[in-house]
Amino acid sequence: TKDNPSPKPKILVARAIFPEALAKLEESFEVRSNQADHVWTPEELKKELASVAGALVTGSERIDAGALSQAAKLKIVANISVGYNNFDIQAITAAGVMATNTPEVLTDTTADFGFALLMATARRVTESEHWLRAGNWLKWSIASNPLGVDVHHTTLGIIGMGRIGQGIAKRALGFDMNVIYYNRSRLSETHEKACQATYVSKEELLRTADHVVLVLPYTAQNHHTIGAKEIALMKPTATLINIARGGIVDDAALAQALKEKRLFAAGLDVFEGEPQVHPELLKLSNVVLAPHIASSTEKTRRAMVDLAIDNLSAALAGKKPPSLINE
Ligand code: DGY
Repeated sequence: TKDNPSPKPKILVARAIFPEALAKLEESFEVRSNQADHVWTPEELKKELASVAGALVTGSERIDAGALSQAAKLKIVANISVGYNNFDIQAITAAGVMATNTPEVLTDTTADFGFALLMATARRVTESEHWLRAGNWLKWSIASNPLGVDVHHTTLGIIGMGRIGQGIAKRALGFDMNVIYYNRSRLSETHEKACQATYVSKEELLRTADHVVLVLPYTAQNHHTIGAKEIALMKPTATLINIARGGIVDDAALAQALKEKRLFAAGLDVFEGEPQVHPELLKLSNVVLAPHIASSTEKTRRAMVDLAIDNLSAALAGKKPPSLINE
């Protein structure tokens, strides 16, 4: 048409991506990009989706019936993220749109970070650095610096034993940890053997683990999987690590427990209502806070973008995207 002389399909890139990736997309598509990286309001997003055949989005873009209400040409929404709780899959499927995510490419990087957060939390790494920078380090001494708890030879409880959970379990073997896990469904014997993990109930895990790591997807049923009641089951010497999603932990209840030293410490990469962080958490020294960076290495973020592009390109070429969610 006069307005759109390009024969290339029109696509939306909802957030800033690597310039090389954008250039690659521009070879095949007419791209409406958002290199300014601002997060669109639902109303803006709906308008942006109205004229495109495909969209690359992130967890910050909620794709539901409202967002899709004018998207008559849309064939695919490709999430640059493995978690897809920003997708209303039912609404997307009902609109005849394919939904994809980015599994596998971030598994090891995310498992590494889960372990890093566990180590930093148990050994009070960030708190000790603040202590040093504040001029408190006047001499080496037995116990005047913040004392941590051990990671090696302790019991690690993993809630959510998908690819990333299993990656963390494998890392734990090198630390001589006893690994227990809780998952919606029990792993096959082969998978349990590979990570030497024992299946237990959620209650038993919370009561016996020295460190609890959350790696489960966010769903309505998983909302506040860890609240005041669950925290009360945990050892006062335990740590809680959340690399899953905000909303899986009741952050207010967690802050209260940390304040009252009913838990040793927490390591959090995700928050309810992020990028806002519960103000009580910000006041505490026994919590390590990270800005949702578990998959954030140069190589992995590029791999996530590349996989999302492969998904989008396949769908618009009439092929099955490699990581189609709504088959
Ligand atoms: C993921 O891939 O799910 C990460 O949390 C980034 O959103």
